[in-house]
Amino acid sequence: MTSMAVTNIGELVTNDPAAGHGRLGVLPDAALIVDDGRVAWVGANALAPAADTVLDAQGGAVLPGFVDSHTHLVFAGDRAAEFAARMAGERYTGGGIATTVAATRAAPDEELRATVERLRREALRQGTTTVEIKSGYGLTVPDEARMLRIAFEASPETTYLGAHVVPAEYADRPDDYVALVCGAMLDAAVPYARWVDVFCERGAFDADQARAVLAAGVAAGLAPRVHANQLGPGPGVRLAVELGAASADHCTHLSNADVALLAGSSTVATLLPGGEFSTRSPYPDARRLLDAGVTVALATDCNPGSSYTSSMPLCVALAVREMRMTPAEAVWAATAGGAQALRRTDIGHLGIGARADVLLLDAPSHLHLAYRPGVPLIRHVLHNGVLT
Ligand code: NIG
Ligand code: FE
Repeated sequence: MTSMAVTNIGELVTNDPAAGHGRLGVLPDAALIVDDGRVAWVGANALAPAADTVLDAQGGAVLPGFVDSHTHLVFAGDRAAEFAARMAGERYTGGGIATTVAATRAAPDEELRATVERLRREALRQGTTTVEIKSGYGLTVPDEARMLRIAFEASPETTYLGAHVVPAEYADRPDDYVALVCGAMLDAAVPYARWVDVFCERGAFDADQARAVLAAGVAAGLAPRVHANQLGPGPGVRLAVELGAASADHCTHLSNADVALLAGSSTVATLLPGGEFSTRSPYPDARRLLDAGVTVALATDCNPGSSYTSSMPLCVALAVREMRMTPAEAVWAATAGGAQALRRTDIGHLGIGARADVLLLDAPSHLHLAYRPGVPLIRHVLHNGVLT
């Protein structure tokens, strides 16, 4: 494989404090060498070694690719009318999930595959080089298995979310559904999943049901993560910390005890501001978490109901404007934070040896991601060292 020099970088964000200034590891007037899909060298532009090809950043900023650690990209159907009703004053309750379940069950594999591919490419154009994808709109053994099979074709970061909601046909016997999720459905999911997740929320699964699902997943070799405290206070975060989950996602309604538990754990709090934007709900208080010492990640939650955006730059801008994060904190959370939420050390930074997932911005610094909201600032994306 040939090597590539990215030269004339106005500001290189490495997320490697040993390589540059501050937590973002920022190097001004820098260059970066990619070799064999990995970062081989970073340093002053004037000292850059030769490479086979050159990509001139023209004074723009260079960042690690975004790590979107929470999406639901496998689905069929459209819920624009539900969105319009919310914007006219209706509340989001998660009830629309059933609409997507019906459409997804009816859709052929090819349609689901095309949707995943369309959204993955859409995200890549906006700088997302790693995307986690959940099941959860099938809720039968064959439908959950095929969702994960299709997701796994697009990403190794796949999550079994059979415990998204209790489907209508099990409404009067939810414990039988939990048994299915922990039994035959899990067996069918395992070959295509790395993670197990549960929507622990009033109206979905309570603490005991959620614990049973996560424990069964762990026993089958999957690692846990939790949809926690999204619509109201509840046991989700407590459970995530108790089980050593990589991440508790949403974290919108937290008690002081929840914050303290997260701060004393290795569980990342993944905040999903696209959800609050699209449901017109109060945003989670990122400042409170950061000030307590909690590791925070940002992700899109891309799904057809509560957050139909694939844009990590939008999430960064919302986190800064609405959640009291500094631009540096938000950029870190959307890159290194996402990597930590997926327990990955090869992505989310541009230290030597990192996977060469690299963004070149049409802007002089990372600040512009929040300063220029809604503007397509991603000029080039390298994925595994290859220009996309
Ligand atoms: O993360 N919280 C549960 N699941 C999704 C919403 C799914 C939907 O509304 O279709 C979420 O917001
Ligand atoms: Fe979600």
